[in-house]
Amino acid sequence: MEPNAVSGGGFCMHLYSRKACSFKMALVAMKDLLDRAEEKKIAVGAFSVGNMEMILGAVKAAQEANTPIILQIAEVRLPYAPLEIIGPMMIAAAENASVDIAVHLDHGLRTETVAKALDIGFTSVMFDGSQMPLAENIATVKNVVNLASDYDATVEAELGVVGGNEGEGKAHEILCTNPADAIHFCDETGVDALAVAIGNAHGNYPKLPELRFDVLEEIHNAVKTPLVLHGGTGITPEMFRRCITLGVRKINIATASFDALASYAKAYCDNKEGKPNYFELSSCEVEGVYQNVKKHIEIFNMQ
Ligand code: 13P
Repeated sequence: MEPNAVSGGGFCMHLYSRKACSFKMALVAMKDLLDRAEEKKIAVGAFSVGNMEMILGAVKAAQEANTPIILQIAEVRLPYAPLEIIGPMMIAAAENASVDIAVHLDHGLRTETVAKALDIGFTSVMFDGSQMPLAENIATVKNVVNLASDYDATVEAELGVVGGNEGEGKAHEILCTNPADAIHFCDETGVDALAVAIGNAHGNYPKLPELRFDVLEEIHNAVKTPLVLHGGTGITPEMFRRCITLGVRKINIATASFDALASYAKAYCDNKEGKPNYFELSSCEVEGVYQNVKKHIEIFNMQ
């Protein structure tokens, strides 16, 4: 390895120059990955990250499986991992990976945050207007679609309300997406991906959710837009497969990765005789996320 390169999570990272990098530039628009998933009738995994170890673990799993992924971070996580710091790290990880990766802002809540992510180089943004009246959600998403078009970036929006909460606030009540509204919403906004609410929720489910496959099927039959399933943690492989056959092309996984990182770190500290070592701890965090992402990639790739 030449002097200006360091190794991290099994991929080469050039600090000053990409001149000699043997990997192709792998930062791609999310649209490209959704189109490829549609062709293969699979879903692309969108894995939430909150620190460098999570990025390394997710990219390692994707490279090993030779499968494109989406790296994403939600606006509510930014107090822990500021966008101007973690954003460039996510982009550098994508650019230096041996597989194609889209970098996505998950649940953007303010247009300013969306604009900042696009300026940093995110290739995809979600604006979450699910708490707004339909007309306001449409108007705001239209603006975001306009803004994103200047960057050739992909836009995801949400209709209906996914339960739970992406973050620590009050849980949202589930409100299933109305298929007629979905047609109107997609026509009016020209959005690239639509997050649906079909009984899914963010966080750990207290019991296995009863997903409304009937509603998903109606939406899938009504709109051509690729569908997104949020609240992936705790959903069974069979349920994922059924969602994929009904047009879901992007599946979000967050809590399972955060939990895996925390439990691998705890097990390391509990079992370590003497003082925990920072570098060993960091490797355990990478490993926890890697194992979780690997497991989900295998499910999402099944045809
Ligand atoms: P989980 O935290 O339930 O995996 O949901 C992830 C998600 O939908 C992120 O937007």
